[in-house]
Amino acid sequence: MNEGPAPDGTARLRPPARADGPALRDLVARCPPLDLNSVYLYLLLAEHFPDTCILAEDESGLLGMVSGYRPPGRDDTLFVWQVAVDPRARGRGLGLDMLLGLLSRRAPNPARWVETTVGPGNRASRGLFSRLAARLGAPLDETALFDAALFGADAHEAEPLLRIGPFTPPVPESGRIP
Ligand SMILES: CC(C)(COP(=O)(O)OP(=O)(O)OC[C@H]1O[C@@H](n2cnc3c(N)ncnc32)[C@H](O)[C@@H]1OP(=O)(O)O)[C@@H](O)C(=O)NCCC(=O)NCCS
Repeated sequence: MNEGPAPDGTARLRPPARADGPALRDLVARCPPLDLNSVYLYLLLAEHFPDTCILAEDESGLLGMVSGYRPPGRDDTLFVWQVAVDPRARGRGLGLDMLLGLLSRRAPNPARWVETTVGPGNRASRGLFSRLAARLGAPLDETALFDAALFGADAHEAEPLLRIGPFTPPVPESGRIP
């Protein structure tokens, strides 16, 4: 399935496929502070969660991806795990367009809530989700979730939960204000 051009006209959006595993890992490696996972993990995402993940690409390769899933038993919620936009493609709305592209896909139970966790110091990610909430016309709420101590020996900042919603489908397909 090809979801067509991203609203910025320079990238195409589509769900991930098996063959994308290594390129997904390479993209995340170019996008600190994201945690880097194994190729196997990205293969699993493509195999089992293509309906809740999305890629952006152009002729030169992968430009961005959003991985997510519906938390078990909560079909009205999209949990966003990682958002990555290649440094060369940042600042032109691709992150927001991928999130809106995911939320505007046809689904038996369209999401009415978006959740994610964002470290206190990740200004870009916080800005992205604030912009998403504004575009959806929905409130954004923050509560504690994973304290730093829960990461064990790993030096990792806390990951509070951001929750956006409720919003009413259909959502706008583009981040740009019409
Ligand atoms: C966060 C990230 C995905 C944003 O991607 P992007 O395509 O550049 O974001 P967009 O162009 O769609 O920006 C949408 C909004 O996010 C906010 N934003 C984006 N980058 C920002 C930055 N560096 N600082 C502050 N706000 C930022 C802005 O509000 C922006 O809207 P505006 O341009 O109208 O002001 C990208 O910077 C990235 O991959 N970072 C590294 C990985 C990461 O931290 N991922 C998020 C954690 S899950």
